[in-house]
Amino acid sequence: MPVHIVEHPLVHATLTELRDVTTPPEDFRRLANRISVLLAAEALRDLPTDAITVTTPLADAPGRRIARDVVVVPVLRAGLGMLDAVLQLVPSARVGHIGLQRDEITAVASQYYARLPSRLDRSYVLMIDPMLATGGSAVAAIDLLRGAGAHDIHILCIVAAPEGVALVEQRHPDVHIYTPAVDRNLNAHKYIVPGLGDFGDRLYGTL
Ligand code: PRP
Ligand code: URA
Repeated sequence: MPVHIVEHPLVHATLTELRDVTTPPEDFRRLANRISVLLAAEALRDLPTDAITVTTPLADAPGRRIARDVVVVPVLRAGLGMLDAVLQLVPSARVGHIGLQRDEITAVASQYYARLPSRLDRSYVLMIDPMLATGGSAVAAIDLLRGAGAHDIHILCIVAAPEGVALVEQRHPDVHIYTPAVDRNLNAHKYIVPGLGDFGDRLYGTL
């Protein structure tokens, strides 16, 4: 499944501000929300719709209504910075949560929380996690979603590394990845280079 590279100029202008080390947490949050709205609109482009009719003040008009259950799943904690954006676009979305934490030394992710909605087999599942680095967290989250019955899974991330994209493609080749940037590589501590640093720490000011 190809990675969908989002090329929109507003996405890239926003990403550039997010990358900037001088951007403080209050701006970082606002920018994370803005880029997530733009990325989510792209990832939801193929959502099926039903034809409906509405009445304007002048006449009947043809329209469309979302015809699919949408489930959005932030990977805690950084993924929470993208959640409001998706809910602005799809207020009726159901929300699951997956808590994963990378070990600071080994960079291996371990799960500390999971709470998912039921009947995921019918749903369009949008997993949101801003950073796809080694891909270990994404693969663990997808494994969990698949175990719960999901099969139409889309990942939204703000920066990806080639290593993470390759791991997801190898382990879950039918999962769609939407990102504006596949960066150069990972450093010795498994951070994305140039990346934007630790997303969760910058979002919540825990640096
Ligand atoms: C970050 C990020 C991803 C993960 C990516 O979370 O939000 O979940 O690292 O790295 P990987 O692809 O190598 O697994 P982190 O574990 O730092 O937790 P946090 O969201 O609580 O800050
Ligand atoms: N998690 C982050 O927040 N940033 C990285 O570069 C890698 C993992």
